[in-house]
Amino acid sequence: MNRPSDLDTLIARHQDGLALPREFYTRQDIYDYDIAAYWNQSWIWVGHESQLPNPGDYITFDYGQESIIVVRDKEGALHAHLNVCRHRGSRVCTESSGNARVLVCPYHAWTFELSGQLRSGRAMGPDFDPGKWGLFPAQLRVFQGLIFVCASADAPPIDAGLADLAPLTAPFGLDRLKIAHSASYPVPANWKLAVENYMECYHCAPSHKEYARSHTLKAPHEMEGLMEPLQARSAAIGLPTDIYHTSGAAAGGAGADTYYRRYPLYDGFETGSRDGTALAPLLGDLTGLDGGATDLQIGPLNNFLIYADHVVGYRFVPRGLQETDIQIVWLVHEDAEEGRDYDVDALTWLWHVTSLDDERIIRHNQEGVNSQFFQPGPLNPMEWGIQSFYEGYLGLIAKPPARHAAE
Ligand code: FES
Ligand code: FE
Repeated sequence: MNRPSDLDTLIARHQDGLALPREFYTRQDIYDYDIAAYWNQSWIWVGHESQLPNPGDYITFDYGQESIIVVRDKEGALHAHLNVCRHRGSRVCTESSGNARVLVCPYHAWTFELSGQLRSGRAMGPDFDPGKWGLFPAQLRVFQGLIFVCASADAPPIDAGLADLAPLTAPFGLDRLKIAHSASYPVPANWKLAVENYMECYHCAPSHKEYARSHTLKAPHEMEGLMEPLQARSAAIGLPTDIYHTSGAAAGGAGADTYYRRYPLYDGFETGSRDGTALAPLLGDLTGLDGGATDLQIGPLNNFLIYADHVVGYRFVPRGLQETDIQIVWLVHEDAEEGRDYDVDALTWLWHVTSLDDERIIRHNQEGVNSQFFQPGPLNPMEWGIQSFYEGYLGLIAKPPARHAAE
Protein backbone atom coordinates (compact mmCIF):
# COMPACT_ATOMS: atom_id res chain seq x y z
CA MET A 1 0.00 0.00 0.00
CA ASN A 2 1.58 3.25 -1.10
CA ARG A 3 1.79 5.96 1.48
CA PRO A 4 0.49 9.22 -0.02
CA SER A 5 3.61 11.26 -0.79
CA ASP A 6 2.21 14.45 0.75
CA LEU A 7 0.75 12.78 3.86
CA ASP A 8 3.25 14.36 6.25
CA THR A 9 2.47 17.79 4.81
CA LEU A 10 -1.25 17.21 5.30
CA ILE A 11 -0.74 15.95 8.85
CA ALA A 12 1.35 19.02 9.62
CA ARG A 13 -1.39 21.24 8.20
CA HIS A 14 -3.86 19.98 10.82
CA GLN A 15 -4.13 22.41 13.72
CA ASP A 16 -5.06 21.29 17.20
CA GLY A 17 -8.62 22.24 18.02
CA LEU A 18 -9.72 22.33 14.38
CA ALA A 19 -11.33 19.72 12.11
CA LEU A 20 -9.07 17.81 9.70
CA PRO A 21 -8.13 19.22 6.30
CA ARG A 22 -10.56 18.39 3.50
CA GLU A 23 -8.24 15.89 1.80
CA PHE A 24 -8.70 13.42 4.65
CA TYR A 25 -12.35 13.03 3.64
CA THR A 26 -12.09 13.35 -0.12
CA ARG A 27 -8.98 11.57 -1.41
CA GLN A 28 -9.02 7.96 -2.51
CA ASP A 29 -5.33 7.41 -1.77
CA ILE A 30 -5.80 8.60 1.82
CA TYR A 31 -8.85 6.35 2.22
CA ASP A 32 -6.83 3.37 0.93
CA TYR A 33 -4.06 4.23 3.35
CA ASP A 34 -6.61 4.57 6.18
CA ILE A 35 -7.55 0.92 5.70
CA ALA A 36 -3.95 -0.27 5.58
CA ALA A 37 -2.45 1.94 8.25
CA TYR A 38 -5.37 2.52 10.60
CA TRP A 39 -8.11 -0.10 10.29
CA ASN A 40 -5.73 -3.00 9.77
CA GLN A 41 -3.84 -1.78 12.84
CA SER A 42 -6.88 -1.31 15.10
CA TRP A 43 -9.03 -3.58 17.21
CA ILE A 44 -12.46 -4.05 15.68
CA TRP A 45 -15.52 -5.40 17.48
CA VAL A 46 -16.91 -8.11 15.20
CA GLY A 47 -19.49 -9.93 17.28
CA HIS A 48 -20.49 -11.79 20.41
CA GLU A 49 -19.58 -15.31 21.49
CA SER A 50 -23.26 -16.24 21.53
CA GLN A 51 -23.13 -16.17 17.71
CA LEU A 52 -20.69 -19.11 17.75
CA PRO A 53 -21.99 -21.63 20.30
CA ASN A 54 -20.87 -24.80 18.48
CA PRO A 55 -17.67 -26.24 17.00
CA GLY A 56 -17.42 -25.19 13.36
CA ASP A 57 -19.57 -22.06 13.80
CA TYR A 58 -18.08 -19.09 12.02
CA ILE A 59 -18.81 -15.45 11.26
CA THR A 60 -17.07 -13.12 8.85
CA PHE A 61 -16.56 -9.40 9.21
CA ASP A 62 -15.78 -7.16 6.23
CA TYR A 63 -14.41 -3.61 6.07
CA GLY A 64 -12.74 -1.76 3.23
CA GLN A 65 -11.35 -4.48 0.99
CA GLU A 66 -10.64 -6.73 3.98
CA SER A 67 -12.49 -9.69 5.46
CA ILE A 68 -11.83 -11.64 8.64
CA ILE A 69 -13.15 -15.05 9.65
CA VAL A 70 -13.82 -15.90 13.31
CA VAL A 71 -14.39 -19.61 13.84
CA ARG A 72 -14.79 -21.98 16.77
CA ASP A 73 -12.65 -25.13 16.48
CA LYS A 74 -13.50 -28.67 17.61
CA GLU A 75 -11.95 -28.08 21.03
CA GLY A 76 -14.06 -24.96 21.53
CA ALA A 77 -11.31 -22.37 20.98
CA LEU A 78 -11.93 -19.33 18.80
CA HIS A 79 -9.57 -18.43 15.95
CA ALA A 80 -9.41 -15.42 13.65
CA HIS A 81 -8.06 -15.75 10.11
CA LEU A 82 -7.69 -13.37 7.21
CA ASN A 83 -10.30 -14.44 4.66
CA VAL A 84 -7.84 -14.70 1.78
CA CYS A 85 -6.96 -18.10 0.31
CA ARG A 86 -3.23 -18.84 0.25
CA HIS A 87 -3.54 -20.36 -3.24
CA ARG A 88 -4.69 -17.55 -5.52
CA GLY A 89 -6.46 -15.35 -3.04
CA SER A 90 -10.15 -16.15 -3.24
CA ARG A 91 -12.37 -15.42 -0.25
CA VAL A 92 -12.56 -18.73 1.60
CA CYS A 93 -15.80 -18.03 3.49
CA THR A 94 -18.29 -16.22 1.30
CA GLU A 95 -21.20 -16.16 3.75
CA SER A 96 -21.54 -13.84 6.75
CA SER A 97 -22.04 -16.83 9.07
CA GLY A 98 -22.34 -20.59 8.98
CA ASN A 99 -21.03 -23.89 10.29
CA ALA A 100 -18.26 -25.90 8.68
CA ARG A 101 -16.22 -29.01 9.52
CA VAL A 102 -13.28 -27.58 7.57
CA LEU A 103 -12.94 -24.36 5.58
CA VAL A 104 -12.97 -25.20 1.87
CA CYS A 105 -11.99 -22.54 -0.62
CA PRO A 106 -14.78 -22.31 -3.22
CA TYR A 107 -12.31 -21.76 -6.09
CA HIS A 108 -10.01 -24.83 -6.29
CA ALA A 109 -11.03 -26.53 -3.04
CA TRP A 110 -7.94 -26.08 -0.94
CA THR A 111 -9.06 -27.27 2.47
CA PHE A 112 -8.13 -25.52 5.71
CA GLU A 113 -8.56 -26.81 9.25
CA LEU A 114 -10.65 -24.58 11.54
CA SER A 115 -7.33 -23.64 13.17
CA GLY A 116 -6.23 -22.21 9.82
CA GLN A 117 -3.70 -24.93 8.91
CA LEU A 118 -3.89 -26.08 5.32
CA ARG A 119 -5.00 -29.72 5.39
CA SER A 120 -4.49 -30.26 1.71
CA GLY A 121 -3.88 -28.33 -1.47
CA ARG A 122 -5.78 -30.46 -3.91
CA ALA A 123 -3.50 -32.41 -6.36
CA MET A 124 -0.47 -30.21 -5.64
CA GLY A 125 1.93 -33.16 -5.89
CA PRO A 126 4.34 -34.88 -3.49
CA ASP A 127 6.72 -31.93 -3.01
CA PHE A 128 4.01 -29.55 -1.83
CA ASP A 129 4.26 -28.65 1.86
CA PRO A 130 0.81 -27.71 3.23
CA GLY A 131 2.49 -26.55 6.45
CA LYS A 132 3.65 -23.39 4.65
CA TRP A 133 0.27 -22.33 3.33
CA GLY A 134 -2.11 -21.95 6.25
CA LEU A 135 -4.45 -18.98 6.43
CA PHE A 136 -2.82 -15.83 7.79
CA PRO A 137 -3.88 -15.35 11.40
CA ALA A 138 -5.58 -12.23 12.70
CA GLN A 139 -5.30 -11.23 16.35
CA LEU A 140 -8.26 -12.07 18.57
CA ARG A 141 -9.47 -11.05 22.02
CA VAL A 142 -12.68 -11.95 23.79
CA PHE A 143 -13.74 -9.49 26.46
CA GLN A 144 -16.73 -10.69 28.48
CA GLY A 145 -18.20 -12.34 25.39
CA LEU A 146 -17.44 -9.44 23.03
CA ILE A 147 -15.14 -10.53 20.18
CA PHE A 148 -12.46 -8.17 18.89
CA VAL A 149 -10.03 -8.78 16.04
CA CYS A 150 -7.06 -6.95 14.58
CA ALA A 151 -5.66 -7.85 11.14
CA SER A 152 -2.13 -6.88 12.06
CA ALA A 153 0.33 -9.12 13.86
CA ASP A 154 1.48 -5.89 15.46
CA ALA A 155 -1.87 -5.15 17.14
CA PRO A 156 -1.96 -2.22 19.56
CA PRO A 157 -1.78 -3.22 23.25
CA ILE A 158 -5.27 -3.70 24.63
CA ASP A 159 -4.97 -6.22 27.47
CA ALA A 160 -4.18 -3.77 30.25
CA GLY A 161 -7.12 -1.56 29.26
CA LEU A 162 -9.45 -4.56 29.19
CA ALA A 163 -8.23 -5.76 32.58
CA ASP A 164 -8.99 -2.34 34.05
CA LEU A 165 -12.44 -2.24 32.46
CA ALA A 166 -13.38 -5.75 33.54
CA PRO A 167 -14.60 -4.97 37.09
CA LEU A 168 -16.51 -1.90 35.86
CA THR A 169 -18.50 -3.84 33.26
CA ALA A 170 -18.77 -7.14 35.17
CA PRO A 171 -22.20 -6.34 36.71
CA PHE A 172 -23.77 -6.13 33.24
CA GLY A 173 -22.99 -9.78 32.49
CA LEU A 174 -21.89 -8.94 28.95
CA ASP A 175 -20.87 -12.58 28.47
CA ARG A 176 -24.53 -13.57 28.95
CA LEU A 177 -26.00 -11.54 26.12
CA LYS A 178 -27.55 -12.42 22.80
CA ILE A 179 -28.09 -10.32 19.72
CA ALA A 180 -31.73 -9.25 19.49
CA HIS A 181 -31.41 -7.22 16.31
CA SER A 182 -28.80 -5.76 13.93
CA ALA A 183 -29.29 -2.98 11.42
CA SER A 184 -27.12 -1.17 8.93
CA TYR A 185 -27.60 2.43 7.83
CA PRO A 186 -25.47 3.16 4.76
CA VAL A 187 -24.32 6.76 4.56
CA PRO A 188 -22.55 8.39 1.60
CA ALA A 189 -19.72 9.80 3.70
CA ASN A 190 -16.15 9.04 4.67
CA TRP A 191 -15.91 6.75 7.71
CA LYS A 192 -14.14 9.43 9.75
CA LEU A 193 -17.14 11.75 9.58
CA ALA A 194 -19.31 8.94 10.96
CA VAL A 195 -16.86 8.22 13.79
CA GLU A 196 -16.52 11.92 14.59
CA ASN A 197 -20.29 12.30 14.73
CA TYR A 198 -20.48 9.56 17.36
CA MET A 199 -17.65 11.13 19.37
CA GLU A 200 -19.58 14.28 20.20
CA CYS A 201 -22.96 15.14 21.62
CA TYR A 202 -22.75 18.79 20.59
CA HIS A 203 -25.13 17.83 17.77
CA CYS A 204 -27.55 15.92 20.00
CA ALA A 205 -29.80 18.81 21.06
CA PRO A 206 -30.38 20.25 17.58
CA SER A 207 -30.38 16.95 15.69
CA HIS A 208 -31.85 14.26 17.96
CA LYS A 209 -35.27 15.26 19.23
CA GLU A 210 -36.09 11.83 20.68
CA TYR A 211 -32.67 11.19 22.22
CA ALA A 212 -32.49 14.67 23.74
CA ARG A 213 -35.91 14.18 25.38
CA SER A 214 -34.62 11.27 27.48
CA HIS A 215 -30.81 11.60 27.64
CA THR A 216 -28.80 14.34 29.23
CA LEU A 217 -26.18 15.54 26.81
CA LYS A 218 -23.34 14.90 29.23
CA ALA A 219 -22.73 18.63 29.58
CA PRO A 220 -22.39 19.69 33.24
CA HIS A 221 -25.42 22.01 33.11
CA GLU A 222 -27.55 19.20 31.70
CA MET A 223 -26.60 16.80 34.48
CA GLU A 224 -26.99 19.24 37.32
CA GLY A 225 -29.10 17.74 40.06
CA LEU A 226 -29.25 14.39 38.26
CA MET A 227 -25.78 12.94 38.79
CA GLU A 228 -25.92 12.51 42.57
CA PRO A 229 -29.27 10.70 42.61
CA LEU A 230 -27.98 8.48 39.78
CA GLN A 231 -24.85 7.66 41.76
CA ALA A 232 -27.02 6.52 44.65
CA ARG A 233 -29.35 4.46 42.45
CA SER A 234 -26.46 2.90 40.50
CA ALA A 235 -24.54 2.05 43.67
CA ALA A 236 -27.68 0.36 45.01
CA ILE A 237 -27.63 -2.09 42.10
CA GLY A 238 -23.84 -2.49 42.09
CA LEU A 239 -23.00 -0.28 39.12
CA PRO A 240 -20.01 2.04 39.13
CA THR A 241 -20.47 5.63 37.94
CA ASP A 242 -16.77 6.55 37.95
CA ILE A 243 -15.30 7.95 34.80
CA TYR A 244 -12.50 5.69 33.63
CA HIS A 245 -10.40 6.69 30.63
CA THR A 246 -7.11 5.56 29.14
CA SER A 247 -5.97 7.33 26.05
CA GLY A 248 -4.11 5.33 23.42
CA ALA A 249 -3.03 8.63 21.91
CA ALA A 250 -1.40 9.59 25.19
CA ALA A 251 0.69 6.44 24.87
CA GLY A 252 2.05 7.70 21.54
CA GLY A 253 -0.78 6.15 19.53
CA ALA A 254 0.42 2.74 20.62
CA GLY A 255 -2.43 1.67 22.87
CA ALA A 256 -6.16 1.34 22.40
CA ASP A 257 -8.38 3.93 24.12
CA THR A 258 -10.75 2.60 26.72
CA TYR A 259 -13.50 4.63 28.31
CA TYR A 260 -16.31 4.00 30.80
CA ARG A 261 -18.77 6.55 32.03
CA ARG A 262 -22.28 6.20 33.43
CA TYR A 263 -24.51 9.24 33.05
CA PRO A 264 -28.11 10.01 33.98
CA LEU A 265 -31.22 9.91 31.87
CA TYR A 266 -33.87 12.49 32.66
CA ASP A 267 -36.30 11.78 35.47
CA GLY A 268 -39.04 9.47 34.30
CA PHE A 269 -36.71 7.48 32.03
CA GLU A 270 -35.46 4.16 33.39
CA THR A 271 -33.91 3.19 30.07
CA GLY A 272 -33.63 4.35 26.46
CA SER A 273 -37.27 3.70 25.60
CA ARG A 274 -40.05 5.80 24.13
CA ASP A 275 -42.10 5.96 27.32
CA GLY A 276 -39.24 5.59 29.79
CA THR A 277 -40.16 2.10 31.01
CA ALA A 278 -38.04 -1.05 30.74
CA LEU A 279 -37.65 -2.75 27.38
CA ALA A 280 -36.17 -6.12 28.33
CA PRO A 281 -35.16 -8.21 31.37
CA LEU A 282 -32.39 -6.79 33.54
CA LEU A 283 -28.84 -7.52 32.43
CA GLY A 284 -26.49 -9.77 34.36
CA ASP A 285 -27.40 -10.01 38.00
CA LEU A 286 -28.75 -6.47 38.27
CA THR A 287 -31.63 -6.08 40.67
CA GLY A 288 -33.17 -2.90 39.32
CA LEU A 289 -33.12 -0.09 36.78
CA ASP A 290 -31.07 2.95 37.76
CA GLY A 291 -32.10 5.35 34.99
CA GLY A 292 -28.54 5.58 33.73
CA ALA A 293 -26.61 4.80 30.58
CA THR A 294 -22.96 3.82 30.27
CA ASP A 295 -20.77 4.98 27.42
CA LEU A 296 -18.25 2.20 26.90
CA GLN A 297 -15.47 2.57 24.38
CA ILE A 298 -12.95 -0.16 23.63
CA GLY A 299 -10.42 1.10 21.12
CA PRO A 300 -11.29 4.10 18.99
CA LEU A 301 -13.64 2.21 16.68
CA ASN A 302 -15.87 0.31 19.09
CA ASN A 303 -18.62 1.94 21.09
CA PHE A 304 -21.36 0.61 23.30
CA LEU A 305 -24.20 2.19 25.20
CA ILE A 306 -25.26 0.09 28.16
CA TYR A 307 -28.61 0.56 29.83
CA ALA A 308 -29.65 -1.68 32.73
CA ASP A 309 -31.79 -3.81 30.41
CA HIS A 310 -30.04 -3.75 27.03
CA VAL A 311 -26.84 -2.90 25.21
CA VAL A 312 -26.47 -1.06 21.92
CA GLY A 313 -23.23 -1.54 19.97
CA TYR A 314 -22.09 0.88 17.25
CA ARG A 315 -19.63 0.47 14.39
CA PHE A 316 -18.87 2.76 11.46
CA VAL A 317 -17.58 0.46 8.77
CA PRO A 318 -15.78 1.80 5.70
CA ARG A 319 -17.03 0.49 2.35
CA GLY A 320 -15.46 3.10 0.09
CA LEU A 321 -14.03 6.61 0.11
CA GLN A 322 -17.45 8.12 0.79
CA GLU A 323 -19.45 5.02 1.66
CA THR A 324 -19.85 3.92 5.27
CA ASP A 325 -22.20 1.54 7.02
CA ILE A 326 -23.47 2.72 10.38
CA GLN A 327 -23.97 -0.68 12.01
CA ILE A 328 -26.10 -0.88 15.14
CA VAL A 329 -26.45 -4.07 17.20
CA TRP A 330 -28.98 -4.45 20.01
CA LEU A 331 -28.18 -7.05 22.68
CA VAL A 332 -30.31 -8.35 25.54
CA HIS A 333 -29.96 -10.93 28.31
CA GLU A 334 -29.39 -14.38 26.82
CA ASP A 335 -32.52 -15.77 28.49
CA ALA A 336 -34.82 -13.08 27.13
CA GLU A 337 -37.35 -14.34 24.60
CA GLU A 338 -38.65 -12.17 21.81
CA GLY A 339 -42.39 -11.61 22.11
CA ARG A 340 -42.46 -12.69 25.74
CA ASP A 341 -39.73 -10.52 27.26
CA TYR A 342 -39.08 -7.86 24.65
CA ASP A 343 -40.51 -6.40 21.49
CA VAL A 344 -37.96 -5.70 18.75
CA ASP A 345 -39.72 -2.59 17.47
CA ALA A 346 -39.89 -1.06 20.94
CA LEU A 347 -36.32 -2.15 21.76
CA THR A 348 -34.85 -0.62 18.62
CA TRP A 349 -37.06 2.46 18.31
CA LEU A 350 -34.76 5.06 19.90
CA TRP A 351 -31.56 4.13 18.10
CA HIS A 352 -33.39 3.49 14.85
CA VAL A 353 -34.79 7.02 14.72
CA THR A 354 -31.52 8.44 16.07
CA SER A 355 -29.47 6.59 13.44
CA LEU A 356 -31.74 7.92 10.68
CA ASP A 357 -30.98 11.42 12.03
CA ASP A 358 -27.27 10.60 12.09
CA GLU A 359 -27.35 9.29 8.52
CA ARG A 360 -28.87 12.59 7.41
CA ILE A 361 -26.50 14.89 9.29
CA ILE A 362 -23.38 12.91 8.36
CA ARG A 363 -24.47 12.92 4.69
CA HIS A 364 -24.89 16.67 4.75
CA ASN A 365 -21.58 17.03 6.55
CA GLN A 366 -19.81 15.19 3.72
CA GLU A 367 -21.61 17.28 1.08
CA GLY A 368 -20.31 20.46 2.70
CA VAL A 369 -16.81 19.07 3.21
CA ASN A 370 -16.71 18.18 -0.51
CA SER A 371 -17.11 21.87 -1.36
CA GLN A 372 -14.00 23.67 -2.55
CA PHE A 373 -14.84 26.32 0.05
CA PHE A 374 -14.66 24.03 3.10
CA GLN A 375 -12.10 25.03 5.68
CA PRO A 376 -11.64 23.19 8.98
CA GLY A 377 -13.46 25.06 11.75
CA PRO A 378 -12.95 25.15 15.53
CA LEU A 379 -14.13 22.30 17.74
CA ASN A 380 -16.45 22.96 20.67
CA PRO A 381 -15.37 21.74 24.15
CA MET A 382 -18.19 19.14 23.87
CA GLU A 383 -16.25 17.73 20.91
CA TRP A 384 -13.19 16.69 22.94
CA GLY A 385 -13.71 13.09 21.82
CA ILE A 386 -13.01 14.12 18.23
CA GLN A 387 -9.73 15.70 19.28
CA SER A 388 -8.79 12.47 20.98
CA PHE A 389 -9.77 10.48 17.85
CA TYR A 390 -7.62 12.78 15.68
CA GLU A 391 -4.61 12.30 17.95
CA GLY A 392 -4.86 8.53 17.73
CA TYR A 393 -5.61 8.53 14.00
CA LEU A 394 -2.88 10.96 13.01
CA GLY A 395 -0.45 9.24 15.38
CA LEU A 396 -0.98 5.91 13.63
CA ILE A 397 -0.90 7.07 10.03
CA ALA A 398 2.12 9.28 10.72
CA LYS A 399 4.25 6.25 11.54
CA PRO A 400 6.60 4.91 8.88
CA PRO A 401 4.79 2.49 6.57
CA ALA A 402 7.11 -0.42 7.36
CA ARG A 403 5.25 -0.80 10.65
CA HIS A 404 2.04 -1.39 8.74
CA ALA A 405 3.22 -4.33 6.68
CA ALA A 406 0.24 -6.59 7.36
CA GLU A 407 0.86 -8.56 4.21
FE1 FES B 1 -8.43 -20.90 -3.10
FE2 FES B 1 -7.50 -21.58 -5.42
S1 FES B 1 -7.89 -19.62 -4.70
S2 FES B 1 -8.10 -22.87 -3.80
FE1 FE C 1 -25.96 11.42 16.73
